[in-house]
Amino acid sequence: MTIRPMRVDERDAVARLIHRSTNAWYQDRLGHEIFASGWEACRVFPEVYEALDPGCCLVAETGAGELVGSCFYHPRPTHVSLGIMNAAPEAAGQGVARRLLDEILSRADGLPVRLVSSAMNLDSFSLYTRAGFAPYELFQDMVFPNGVGTAAVDPEVRDARAGDVDAIVALEERLLGISRRKDIEMFIRNEAGIWSSSVKVDAAGRVLGFLAAIDHPGAAMLGPGVAVDEGAMRSLILAEARRERRAPPVFLVPSRCRDLVAGLYRLGARNCELHVGQALGEIKAPEGVMMPTFLPETA
Ligand SMILES: CC(C)(COP(=O)(O)OP(=O)(O)OC[C@H]1O[C@@H](n2cnc3c(N)ncnc32)[C@H](O)[C@@H]1OP(=O)(O)O)[C@@H](O)C(=O)NCCC(=O)NCCS
Repeated sequence: MTIRPMRVDERDAVARLIHRSTNAWYQDRLGHEIFASGWEACRVFPEVYEALDPGCCLVAETGAGELVGSCFYHPRPTHVSLGIMNAAPEAAGQGVARRLLDEILSRADGLPVRLVSSAMNLDSFSLYTRAGFAPYELFQDMVFPNGVGTAAVDPEVRDARAGDVDAIVALEERLLGISRRKDIEMFIRNEAGIWSSSVKVDAAGRVLGFLAAIDHPGAAMLGPGVAVDEGAMRSLILAEARRERRAPPVFLVPSRCRDLVAGLYRLGARNCELHVGQALGEIKAPEGVMMPTFLPETA
């Protein structure tokens, strides 16, 4: 098996592998698929990631020339993050993911490596904890199956603008210890037409929180986001959940934020999965409220 960077002409093959391996794993173990539409929807992963971090997808190829694994990684000034990892079902348990992970760790240059892994997927959880990762936060994946109804609008939440980027970057650095300017710029520019983003500001116009969202057949999610407190994040979630979307978006809320979680339950939110924020190396414990996402997995 060879581990090497994905070629540009392999983007569709990687999209097919993401679709096939993720749906097969979830169907087999949990009785439902993740991607309801065809494999083409998973083109969003190579498209978004190659635009953000060109050349940062590794693939695993057998001696017979078959692609049996892929993983994207995201180098940032403060850390390297990792996702989405996939191994072909017929190659499961043969060390494909471990080889991809080892190669990414060797490229991390001493920086902490971060990711979010499913707590309902023991293969994924085990892969990372065996490699030395340790959990730093538990997230519950939530969804409003029937929307958010008539919940009050916070007048201090508005669409994010290019002029907010510096404040958002500084807020993430202060509360989460991570820096990812190019991600924030991409959400707000929204050249792909699939992103939206909101900020919560105080009376003086200072940014107290930020939440982006993606609306695409391959990913309908709120996040990433950061806020100084649970009330600010609640307002941001409601603002983004209220937008017109093709499907109710999934969002990851830190389970330790009990007031936020209780408020979301009162609004009709339901849990659909559990995820664990994991890191290898020393990282800052998150302050305020952090909301990661699966696209882009850059936190
Ligand atoms: C999760 C996934 C990537 C794992 O890929 P894989 O190639 O089968 O994994 P590997 O064979 O490299 O095994 C990973 C490690 O987990 C270990 N492991 C697996 N189950 C374990 C368990 N219950 N307890 C302890 N360790 C376990 C293996 O021993 C191996 O560690 P080692 O190399 O140190 O021996 C694969 O199942 C997959 O693609 N699933 C669908 C998509 C998905 O869920 N991706 C992850 C979320 S983005």
